[in-house]
Amino acid sequence: MCGIIGYAGFRDAAQVLMQGLLLLEYRGYDSFGIAIDTVTDLTIMKRVGRISDVKQSIICGAEDAENRGTVGIGHTRWATHGPPSDINAHPHSDCTKTIAIVHNGIIENYHTLKEKLISDGHVFSSETDSEVIAHLIEDVMYPKQNQGRKTLVEAVEIVTDMIIGSYAILALAQGTNEIVAVRCKSPLVLGLGDGEFLFASDMLPIIEYTDQVIYPDDGDIIHINQTGYYVHKRGGNKTGVPYNITTLTLSPQQVKKGGYPHYMLKEIYEEPEALYRSIRSITPDTLPKSLKDTQCITVVACGTSYHAGMIFSYMLEEATSKLVRLEIGSEFKYATSPVHGLLLAISQSGETADTVAAVKRGRCFNAESVAITNVLGSSITREADHTLLMHAGPEISVAATKSFIAQLGVLLQIVNCLHNEDFNNELTRVHQAIVPVLSLSFDTAVDLCMDAEHMFYVGRGVFYPIVMEGALKLKEISYIHAEAYAAGELKHGPFALLSSKTPVVAVCLPGSTYAVMIGNLKEMKARGTPLIVLGDPRSPELIELADHIIPIKPEGTMIDIFTTSVALQLLAYHIAAKLERDIDKPRNLAKSVTVE
Ligand code: M6R
Repeated sequence: MCGIIGYAGFRDAAQVLMQGLLLLEYRGYDSFGIAIDTVTDLTIMKRVGRISDVKQSIICGAEDAENRGTVGIGHTRWATHGPPSDINAHPHSDCTKTIAIVHNGIIENYHTLKEKLISDGHVFSSETDSEVIAHLIEDVMYPKQNQGRKTLVEAVEIVTDMIIGSYAILALAQGTNEIVAVRCKSPLVLGLGDGEFLFASDMLPIIEYTDQVIYPDDGDIIHINQTGYYVHKRGGNKTGVPYNITTLTLSPQQVKKGGYPHYMLKEIYEEPEALYRSIRSITPDTLPKSLKDTQCITVVACGTSYHAGMIFSYMLEEATSKLVRLEIGSEFKYATSPVHGLLLAISQSGETADTVAAVKRGRCFNAESVAITNVLGSSITREADHTLLMHAGPEISVAATKSFIAQLGVLLQIVNCLHNEDFNNELTRVHQAIVPVLSLSFDTAVDLCMDAEHMFYVGRGVFYPIVMEGALKLKEISYIHAEAYAAGELKHGPFALLSSKTPVVAVCLPGSTYAVMIGNLKEMKARGTPLIVLGDPRSPELIELADHIIPIKPEGTMIDIFTTSVALQLLAYHIAAKLERDIDKPRNLAKSVTVE
């Protein structure tokens, strides 16, 4: 979690950092801050709350000419150690207040380091793990006896050997006009502009200035100033080691809201195109041979990506003789059975700590790995043997929507390619089939849910993971408690909770599960629950039973998976919009979960 940014160039660093932090806010938005090297001083401005809530002139000290500079670092926080507060906000500094650092990740051994530093006379201001980094750098740069002083670059290299954990760190020392960076298991991108260089947790703040980027390797120390970037391989040769430069194809326009009230809605409307791209990217030729040959696939993912994996497992096992084992990323490390065959890791961000760790763990069992991700150059792409990109385009809203649809596009096209017989390929037109769903009205359904504190989502077969995803979407953006169940399971306990105050959202489309779903819906109706059903509006049973039907044209499972998923995203969106929730940045959440 947390977003970091650094700028060295010719522009007003405060402005660049603040604009950039706004684009990184999806990574955490408890508090934020910037540090600017004004040469005569190191100015730190930080505070609790969201950047978007604060007048920029106050934060940047815009009226205050002394606070201007062209080199600086910034941070937007998702709290781990210490609650959100002005003090715990980054940047953190040392005792001399001439060194500032921003950090994304966790320093696991910070407690021991902090105790030692305190016993050596250091005074700490915050409760964070990150602050130790600034004091450690201070110790190395300004040793007590004033002998053997080191440069900032040397100090960062030495400190890197002392800290254990995951980190992307940017460090600044007053009057040096440079930023020193190091990463280990946390994302960092370096943008190479013309007379200006930027570090950031992802490319979003960089594309405004350049399309040329590099992805630093774990452990390398990199420093930038206005004239260039320099790479120091740790413990090795200190001359510049060139990286491959990647040219980004993203335009700054693509990361703007484009007239939509929320990124989430914009991203849902981008789904037909994202789906088209994702499906087209997979052909029998682009699939790794190991994926085609293996008999067993272990799928590992978290949250929404896990739901996509679950849908994949239903569909693959139905269409082929392959076996799928499905694991939640955070639980995979406790599973003792070995990984047979291939490991398939699904992660929009490519940075989810548990999913990335799963890929590494798979290696212990000699399992080849395939990562499905949306982010080129992300950590998972470095760990996995093969990468399949989902081509969703940038997703800013914390709630995953178009990336889920694009994941399904990739995964179901894989099923398609692995299918033994000639498949009647519904996927060629599915991107068109979801278009009408975008213009459905959700007003009646929203009204039925307005006063609910608890809701249930039910489905059967492959529609069970679909309702799981629908319920996750609702709870994360509306804060209404929503539980998803396989429809047959409600009778085994949750029925005790049903009443006229617990609306049930059900997916009930013609097919093998239809008759038994109708039976389940009748049982629920008998308990007085309002029923909102995604189904065929011509279906007589639904007309009789449902309080409201969200009309979905039945077109076969491959297409129904997508149309119902989009409808459930929109239902959650419209409920949250009517409740006036902070849809793109729900409380307590961050988009990429880079800690265990
Ligand atoms: O980037 P990832 O796909 O690995 O993220 C996994 C989850 O954190 C993510 O899907 C989360 O559940 C969504 N933001 C929910 O909308």
